[in-house]
Amino acid sequence: MFKINDNYLKLPGSYLFSTIAKKVSAFQAANPDKMVIRLGIGDVTQPLAPAIIDALHGAVDEMGKAETFHGYAPDLGYEFLRTAIAKNDYADRGCDIAADEIFVSDGAKCDSGNIQEIFSVDNKIAVCDPVYPVYVDTNVMAGRTGTYDPKTEMWSDVIYMPCTEANNFSPELPKETPDIIYLCFPNNPTGATITKAQLQEWVDYANRVGAVIIYDAAYEAYISEEDVPHTIFECEGARTCAIELKSFSKNAGFTGTRLGYTVIPKDLKCGDVMLHSLWARRHGTKYNGAPYIQQRAGEAVYSPEGKVQLAKQVAYYMNNAKVIKEGLQEAGYTVSGGVNAPYIWLKTPDGMTSWEFFDYLLEKANVVGTPGSGFGPSGEGYFRLTAFGTYENSVAALERIKKM
Ligand code: MLT
Repeated sequence: MFKINDNYLKLPGSYLFSTIAKKVSAFQAANPDKMVIRLGIGDVTQPLAPAIIDALHGAVDEMGKAETFHGYAPDLGYEFLRTAIAKNDYADRGCDIAADEIFVSDGAKCDSGNIQEIFSVDNKIAVCDPVYPVYVDTNVMAGRTGTYDPKTEMWSDVIYMPCTEANNFSPELPKETPDIIYLCFPNNPTGATITKAQLQEWVDYANRVGAVIIYDAAYEAYISEEDVPHTIFECEGARTCAIELKSFSKNAGFTGTRLGYTVIPKDLKCGDVMLHSLWARRHGTKYNGAPYIQQRAGEAVYSPEGKVQLAKQVAYYMNNAKVIKEGLQEAGYTVSGGVNAPYIWLKTPDGMTSWEFFDYLLEKANVVGTPGSGFGPSGEGYFRLTAFGTYENSVAALERIKKM
């Protein structure tokens, strides 16, 4: 008789954004006349930039001719894309990352979920609290997190690093030593960030205790302030302790077309074993690469026209962030984020729980957001709104919220 991976049974409820989607569908079915504004999941709304569309069309045409047709992609991704990434995202920032340390994939969500596979199940993870739920849930599936306490909403074998108003939503070094540390800056969900000096402390700490940092830089394009690192490889010593995850979803609108990459420096080793080799083995065995047409579209992100067009797109979303943040402040809410990230993190009013506020907002304003507690126990009493909607919807949502 077959047996299932019963770690899956330990997972409480469904994936956060699936739960929200179900609730919103039920509300919409019961209220077909209401125009719901979705500022929940961080999904983009602006069309792909012209430079990207041109690259897609060109690549599709190539696929239609025997001389330029492409089958399976190379294991690590096409050289043209990895070279563009190495130059633009690393060399131009003074970071030492070679093209063959970059693994192209179909997105950072998959990579952030899959990367834990190359580590022993005995490793202890440390996560920010609140946190992007994929990091924890995928470690639960692997059997790395111990038992779940529904009262505290915590796993016995996970080190939680609270990010609250008291520490400016920036985690402190954990008291218990972890093996794997997940960090995401600019942060999802709080929109907070840390300075280069603060990130350097994490790198020094990881090298000192022999931990690896899995650094999710998905929101890097939204950094507007000086002294906020765009990549962990700006820090000295990161090559021996860090893996970086990057997405094309948020900077270039690829949520529906899918593309991302992971950087594993060859200096990152456990004894004599390079983590790069393990991930290369996994990639080669379980994955056949992001489609050629996607990788050509990714290359266009780094073209001169692509850069100009995408800077405008980022500015569009950041203007929404400003509208949402200032509107909430005018309405008397306590708000943070929205300066280096497309997420606005607000305190729920009148002691409401995060889910109570979710229902209240949906019912009274027909606006969807994300309950802070869905990201971890320290998110209770908070709520996230995304700036990835349209400008018109962001303005309309705030008008409705002000009238509540
Ligand atoms: C979010 O809303 O937190 C993100 O869109 C999720 C993701 O990028 O997978």
